[in-house]
Amino acid sequence: MLNLLKHPLLTHKLALLRRKETATKDFRVILGEIAGLMTYEITRDLPVKDITVETPLGKCHTQELAMDVVLVPVLRAGLGMVDGISNHIPTARIGHIGMYRDHATLKPMTYYSKLPDNLPNAIVMVLDPMLATGGSSSDAIQALKNHGASTIKLVCIVGAPEGVARIMADHPDVQIYLAGIDEKLNAHGYIVPGLGDAGDRLFGTL
Ligand code: PRP
Ligand code: URA
Repeated sequence: MLNLLKHPLLTHKLALLRRKETATKDFRVILGEIAGLMTYEITRDLPVKDITVETPLGKCHTQELAMDVVLVPVLRAGLGMVDGISNHIPTARIGHIGMYRDHATLKPMTYYSKLPDNLPNAIVMVLDPMLATGGSSSDAIQALKNHGASTIKLVCIVGAPEGVARIMADHPDVQIYLAGIDEKLNAHGYIVPGLGDAGDRLFGTL
């Protein structure tokens, strides 16, 4: 299912991120801020359990999170979303999947994977700002399922209709979160209008 997040602050910051004049230093800050703002919605349905705490004035019947959260950024650009989300979920464990798209075929190539062992009992969030053809996210999700994950959310920032359709077809059980859905992919598999190459803009490798 697709969740398209709408909020004036998100729209404003996403416009800044898209601007070609936004330099690496600001791009990094704004990407983190957008991920932080999205946290409120991507965690809306996290399960909670009843607990009782003692305040200075007595007992309070309240709730706390009932499941672990695991964040899995897809290298490189997903790294830019980790701090913004983990600031709000400091107990989250963090796995990493390294992938790059082959420039000719646009197929994702996995070069690294290091995942925590609690995936079967956790809410697992795949982080990648760009959902273009959907190949990278789809393979990352499959790798997590192969590792035992059963509750997976895909948290991206800008998506193309092609990428959304690919994830819905390959992984209909996965919730997709986006701050913007754009018009199309160009001949090189880039999202138009998009924001360019997220990894290069984040790390200054243009
Ligand atoms: C970008 C982006 C995604 C992928 C999206 O990574 O961060 O991982 O492309 O494209 P897709 O939906 O068509 O698979 P890239 O391959 O440029 O690697 P990088 O982050 O290391 O630059
Ligand atoms: N990867 C990016 O970084 N940007 C795109 O538009 C598509 C894939």
